Amino acid sequence: MIGEWLDIGPVMQIAPGHARTMPVQGGEEIAIFHTWEGHFYALVNKCPHKHGPLSQGIVHGTEVTCPLHSWKISLKTGEAQGDDKGCVPTIPIRVDAGRLYLLRSAVIGAKAPESAA
Ligand code: FES
Repeated sequence: MIGEWLDIGPVMQIAPGHARTMPVQGGEEIAIFHTWEGHFYALVNKCPHKHGPLSQGIVHGTEVTCPLHSWKISLKTGEAQGDDKGCVPTIPIRVDAGRLYLLRSAVIGAKAPESAA
């Protein structure tokens, strides 16, 4: 059980409304978001549109607005909202005793979405 979850540090490292990134050797960079409501989400750090860096977007509610062309991406599901189509993988995340943990198998296996046409 212990090895299933990857300890990525204290929750305090990410201020509400912000994100930080975590490089993954041989895999996709992960973006970890802290919402204004105090929840945490993790996604592959590539917008399903043209691979914009979602970690640099604006967090509002349980969505992030991509900094490149303003697609809104659900932090819960990774899906583009509204008329936009596309989905970015999400990574299970949990908080335990003030620390953040990502599901190790999801971190290693995460693949960036195909870029939209
Ligand atoms: S790359 Fe994200 S909206 Fe275009």
